[in-house]
Amino acid sequence: MEDKDFLLFIKKVKDYTSIDLSQYKEAQMKRRLTTLRMKKGYTTFASFFEAMTKDKELFYEFLDRMTINVSEFWRNPNRWEVLEQKFLPDTLRKSRKVKCWSAACSTGEEPYTLAMILAELNAQDSVVLATDIDEGALEKAKKAVYSDRSVRDVPAKYLQKYYRQENLTYLIADSLKKSIRFQKQNLLVDTFDTGFDLIVCRNVMIYFTEEAKHLLYQKFANALKPGGILFVGSTEQIFSPAQYGLESAETFFYRKTEV
Ligand SMILES: C[S@@+](CC[C@H](N)C(=O)[O-])C[C@H]1O[C@@H](n2cnc3c(N)ncnc32)[C@H](O)[C@@H]1O
Repeated sequence: MEDKDFLLFIKKVKDYTSIDLSQYKEAQMKRRLTTLRMKKGYTTFASFFEAMTKDKELFYEFLDRMTINVSEFWRNPNRWEVLEQKFLPDTLRKSRKVKCWSAACSTGEEPYTLAMILAELNAQDSVVLATDIDEGALEKAKKAVYSDRSVRDVPAKYLQKYYRQENLTYLIADSLKKSIRFQKQNLLVDTFDTGFDLIVCRNVMIYFTEEAKHLLYQKFANALKPGGILFVGSTEQIFSPAQYGLESAETFFYRKTEV
């Protein structure tokens, strides 16, 4: 009975928003949404859905609960160092204009980290596309105002050069803001642009089912240029990357095989 209620909720959400919850790991998603439903006082997912269609605030709370926007600048700093010292300089030797994509970018910490590194490498003409399913997160990303917690791993020279501190908040320099194109995108539904030198997609695949992950890795591989790099999260190693035409290039970095 309870499962039927949740399954019907999944179907209604898909029709209403085109967000397909069945492609997210069920136990995790169900636990998070059940907690929210109960907190709001609804005994079934059917009544919760009805309320959500009438109450915008509740709908946004549902979105917040399912998306999990946690992010930080320089998350796993030594991986960003590898990107800064190895992969981006290698790419820049071939072309000064690098085409990058930060997929599931949340509130912007990741694309701004990337844009800072590109600026430091004198590759400001490069393109950084940053996408997420959550419009609220993208709005915050465009405003680019952050707490001291999210900058704790930023190297001192970057903190000095690319941020302005106002009390406990950190604001991103305007020059960086201009270098990023933020766009709403659902990875599980929308088509991907192609020809990327670098795709950064971290800490979102963990929420998806094995089937959804498999399709996404193939789509990411197709979106890369030959020799292009896919940078994944630190719990997201790809099992048998060769099946997607990728090879391991360093821990958490995969290169599209050149033909
Ligand atoms: C934990 S955050 C990761 C943020 C950043 N990549 C990082 O590693 O710090 C996960 C993000 O994935 C986004 N997301 C979840 N499902 C998505 C989907 N189907 N398409 C695009 N983004 C999605 C969420 O909105 C959220 O901002």
